Amino acid sequence: MEHILIGNHPSIQKIRELIAMVSDTAFNVLLLGETGTGKEVVARLLHQASSRRNKKFIKVNCAALPLTLLESELFGYEKGAFTGALHSKPGKFELASDGVILLDEIGDMPLVLQAKLLHVLQSGEFNRLGGTQDVKVNSWVISSTNHDLEKDMAQGLFREDLYYRLNIIKVELPALWERREDIPLLTGHFLHKCQQELNLDVPLTLDSDILELFQEYHWPGNVRELANTVLRLAVGDDPEKVKGELAKNMLMDGLTPPKGFISTRPEPAIGDGEKENDQTGGIRSLKDIKSEAAGYIERKTIMHALNMTGWNKRKAAKLLKISYKTLFYKMDDFGIGQEA
Ligand SMILES: Nc1ncnc2c1ncn2[C@@H]1O[C@H](COP(=O)(O)OP(=O)(O)OP(=O)(O)O)[C@@H](O)[C@H]1O
Ligand SMILES: [Mg+2]
Repeated sequence: MEHILIGNHPSIQKIRELIAMVSDTAFNVLLLGETGTGKEVVARLLHQASSRRNKKFIKVNCAALPLTLLESELFGYEKGAFTGALHSKPGKFELASDGVILLDEIGDMPLVLQAKLLHVLQSGEFNRLGGTQDVKVNSWVISSTNHDLEKDMAQGLFREDLYYRLNIIKVELPALWERREDIPLLTGHFLHKCQQELNLDVPLTLDSDILELFQEYHWPGNVRELANTVLRLAVGDDPEKVKGELAKNMLMDGLTPPKGFISTRPEPAIGDGEKENDQTGGIRSLKDIKSEAAGYIERKTIMHALNMTGWNKRKAAKLLKISYKTLFYKMDDFGIGQEA
């Protein structure tokens, strides 16, 4: 699949130049930027532009697995290394040999594993878990995160020495609102993509008022949110509903939607039940939305603390400044740890 980075903003043009410059160096690259800004697109472009393009591109999500699983995922294991290791298995570093390994969400890597990764990168080799044979690291290491690593380092959550090792080349992806002049171009690109995917002969278009709102909207989910919104409209989602949602998001984030986009429908009274909701055209109460958002952030923060401490609940509770018991109940409430 061909990957492309759409945009004429100077920051994007610079990134394109950088990709061309570093693609054959295999210098470690650190990709920084908010969610949905195109970090993975850049990683794949680096791979595509390099002489490694015919070798593997392997992505490891460092936030998705608890410590021990992530360690064996990265470095592999020998038969008998732990209970249940019935066969030996190569890790992602070995699989990405001569190719590219993308350490996605590196900011969520537990500290213990950060130390091991640093050691591996310094020595250029490692052993599979339970193994004795040295395996050379010759994959191109690209890492990405939406964390503010400088802040994480100041709080002792990310190792400074590892940061400098990974950050030989730093690429910072701007938020979409910082390059809003690219919104029409990106919208056109996603419309064209939808047209092709839906096999339509006639080009897809959007009304001028929605394009106007796109230009004013703050796009907290960045390019991904724009792509999804265009797709929703392309498959026939009610434009009025979409407009209402975007305007509501702006209000929730303390911004003023452009004139004519503020919903005139009545807000449901706080505490009112379903009967009231029926008359609100799908608009939910501020209270519901707030509590849902708070829950989402709380769950994410707990997951982060658990990952940072290698799923040590006592340490995580300390980090979160809550009691062990509270953490335990919250994990239960959010269903954390039950999926493993
Ligand atoms: N400049 C761009 N041109 C075209 N498509 C883009 C661009 N930037 C992002 N996209 C698209 O937006 C979506 C999100 O991009 P990507 O997965 O690279 O984001 P990310 O920064 O890795 O986000 P996250 O931190 O959430 O993992 C993808 O579908 C990608 O193809
Ligand atoms: Mg990503």
